[in-house]
Order: sequence, then structure tokens, then C-alpha cells
Amino acid sequence: MELYHEKDIHVNVRWMIRNDFAEVMAIEAASFEFPWNEGEFLRCLQSRNCIGVVAEYEGKVVGYAIYETPRHKIFLTNIAVDEQYRRKGVARQIVQKLIRKLIYQNRHKIVVEVRETNLTALQCFRSLGFLATGTLRNFYEEQDEDAYILTYQQHNVLRSETGTAVTGTDAGRVMVS
Ligand SMILES: CC(C)(COP(=O)(O)OP(=O)(O)OC[C@H]1O[C@@H](n2cnc3c(N)ncnc32)[C@H](O)[C@@H]1OP(=O)(O)O)[C@@H](O)C(=O)NCCC(=O)NCCS
Repeated sequence: MELYHEKDIHVNVRWMIRNDFAEVMAIEAASFEFPWNEGEFLRCLQSRNCIGVVAEYEGKVVGYAIYETPRHKIFLTNIAVDEQYRRKGVARQIVQKLIRKLIYQNRHKIVVEVRETNLTALQCFRSLGFLATGTLRNFYEEQDEDAYILTYQQHNVLRSETGTAVTGTDAGRVMVS
């Protein structure tokens, strides 16, 4: 996976802070049929191992992700990008940041559950190297919908003599942390 494509904007991916909430909630409301409310965000972020990041572009929050860090993996709970900034590599840069965290934190995979009808998200994660590893039957009961479990598996993590992590996961590209 290349980090940037020519058409992409370059975003700064950083920790989410309380001041970001208004922008995050606006993106959430515009992105999902059943959006989380602020209380649900707060409860999630206050719980142990739950982390929020935002993608910032020219001082504006244009995307965010919430993830949890159970043992040896990252569980991506939520990711969304402002409609006006989609297809500009924002989600790619957020996920790339999480992939780098895998290496630093000695974790092996990123897991996300996606509605079977969310073709955009399925395409997006597939393009980022995720593979379908399971199905959750009738996961969204009200809509009678399944969810796919998608997994990004970190391969070929080697430790050099200096302790630097080197990965050959991305074809033709070697990342050094
Ligand atoms: C899914 C979502 C987060 C993708 O964000 P994004 O910033 O637009 O994605 P990117 O620009 O980084 O796209 C990366 C790649 O994913 C694929 N992709 C993204 N959107 C796509 C679409 N609408 N159709 C087909 N492929 C798509 C492409 O391969 C793309 O690379 P390319 O544009 O160079 O071809 C965004 O569409 C969104 O917020 N959707 C609503 C919320 C949601 O469904 N979240 C997922 C919950 S699990």
C-alpha cells in the first residue's frame, strides 16, 4: 500500500481531544444511518484501551477513528471521513498510522467489522490490505444484516541488529520505524 497517491491531501493524524468533538460528531452524524451520540463517544473514549485519533487538514478535522487495543491487535471500532474530503486518502493515512503502531507496539493485526451492505468501506479496507476472515450472522438485527470481519495481518516483521522493525508487507515498499 502506497502512503500517498497524487490526488491525496496530506493530513496530520493526531490524538482526539475534547475540542474536536463538535467536528467529529458532525462527521459521525453525516456518515452513519445510526450514528453514535456524544455520550456514547465519551463512554467509549473513557474506557480502558479505547483511543480516538483525528485527521486534520488546514486546521479542520476531516476524519477520525476510534480503536481499542486488546492483546496483540488493534480493533478499529469506528472510522469516518467528512464527505467533502473522501477519496483523498484520508482513511488510508489514518489506517497507515495504525499499521505503524502495530510495528511499534508489537501487535500483529488490525480487525474491523463492516456491514455487508457498506460496499464503500469494504472496498476501502480491501484496498488497504484487509482480508475477510469471518462473518457475523445477523449482527445488525434490526436491519437483518450480517457483518464481515476484516483483518489486516502484519507479515514479515523482522528485527534488525539495531532493534529496528523492518516490514516487507507492502509490495515494493519497505518501511523502517
Ligand atoms: C469508508 C471511508 C472511511 C473511506 O474514507 P476515504 O478517506 O474516502 O478513503 P480513501 O480516500 O483513503 O480511500 C482509500 C482507497 O479505498 C478505496 N475506496 C474508498 N472509497 C471508495 C469508494 N467510494 N468506492 C470504491 N473504492 C473506494 C479506494 O481504493 C481508495 O483509493 P483510491 O481513491 O486511490 O482509489 C469513507 O467513505 C466514510 O467515511 N464512509 C462513511 C462511514 C463508514 O462507512 N465508515 C466505515 C465503518 S466500518
